[in-house]
Amino acid sequence: MPDRIILPGSTIGILGGGQLGRMTAIEGRKMGYRIACLDPSPNCPCGQVADDQIVAGLNDVAAAIRLAERSDVLIYEFENIDARLVEELEKNYYLPQKSHILAVAQNRILEKQQLCKAGFPVAPFLIVRNTEELKRGVAQIGYPCVLKTSEGGYDGKGQLVLEQPQDFMKAAELVKTENIMWVLEKKISFTQEISVIVGRGEKGEMAVYPVSENIHRENILHMTVVPARISPQTESMAVEIARGIARFFQVVGVLAVEFFVTPQGLLVNEIAPRPHNSGHYTLDACFTSQFEQLIRAVCGLPLGSTQLLTPAVMINILGSNLPKILEKMSYFSGDVKIHLYGKRGNPAPKRKMGHLLFKTDCPAQIDEIIKNFVMSGCIS
Ligand SMILES: Nc1ncnc2c1ncn2[C@@H]1O[C@H](COP(=O)(O)OP(=O)(O)O)[C@@H](O)[C@H]1O
Ligand SMILES: [Mg+2]
Repeated sequence: MPDRIILPGSTIGILGGGQLGRMTAIEGRKMGYRIACLDPSPNCPCGQVADDQIVAGLNDVAAAIRLAERSDVLIYEFENIDARLVEELEKNYYLPQKSHILAVAQNRILEKQQLCKAGFPVAPFLIVRNTEELKRGVAQIGYPCVLKTSEGGYDGKGQLVLEQPQDFMKAAELVKTENIMWVLEKKISFTQEISVIVGRGEKGEMAVYPVSENIHRENILHMTVVPARISPQTESMAVEIARGIARFFQVVGVLAVEFFVTPQGLLVNEIAPRPHNSGHYTLDACFTSQFEQLIRAVCGLPLGSTQLLTPAVMINILGSNLPKILEKMSYFSGDVKIHLYGKRGNPAPKRKMGHLLFKTDCPAQIDEIIKNFVMSGCIS
């Protein structure tokens, strides 16, 4: 549908109501859009800042249609929304992100197969359906390797690292009890993890964000440093691959591409057709945030400048460190911004509750910021 413009004042319907939807909604409301969302939890993070929330399951077709009827454009905020539901919706409603890339990104097997077929570099992998295939897979790939569920995994959930032969039995148990498909991939000894976020509009125009460097703890994103401390060659290669993937999947919206940096070159770890945790820094450190960019792309507005206004460090706030961070907040300098997602109740230790953004004057200060923050006791 070329040249379709959804002007401020129109309603954006968001499938899902987590923090990504919330931050998108806040950016949308700043621009004058109305926001409706669909999520099973009353007063969910996005619902708190939306004009309207439909409280229903994300697989409730009738509720999704009610959302669509109230909306001028529909978006999904994370990739574990049923792709078949999105496929149904896009037949009758305007959903420019489309279901195809969602279906690919929510299944690690499809994702890796398609990336491979298109010539993008990924870690060596095999599909595993039973213990026999696991045995053959481990023999072929070797230790250390990582077993991942093909669907539904996030923040390291649904993953098991096999460091040595003693770990095989645990993996075999898992494969035996869960009747699902798995991906077995080589554990990559990377020097760094980086990601690139690309905004892409209906006409194929693209705006790429500065490459960010991501530090994980227990497979959950802990910290993002921008600009990434990488060589110009690595930077331009990452940008080229990310643009290539966005073009290949005809992305409309934003796409995040996660990479492993290795001495032999870059490997694509995974892709996400939505705003990404490693792009939260864009809210405070870029002229246009990734959330605003998503809105601009799906509403047919010109993509915003991705210019980095300041070097920065983003640190995730998890359930386990939220109390300490709140306790120490009065000591934070004016160069620290806090974002909390409005999640209620007593949080699980690894639940993402918010993030902090540290502005720095120069990248060389980054290590000092991290050291001081660790010394303050907010993180270990
Ligand atoms: N093959 C691998 N080799 C080394 N580390 C890995 C590998 N796969 C995952 N990891 C680590 O686990 C993190 C989370 O894994 P990922 O595949 O991105 O799943 P998700 O983010 O969906 O939970 C990665 O960012 C990386 O730190
Ligand atoms: Mg990941």
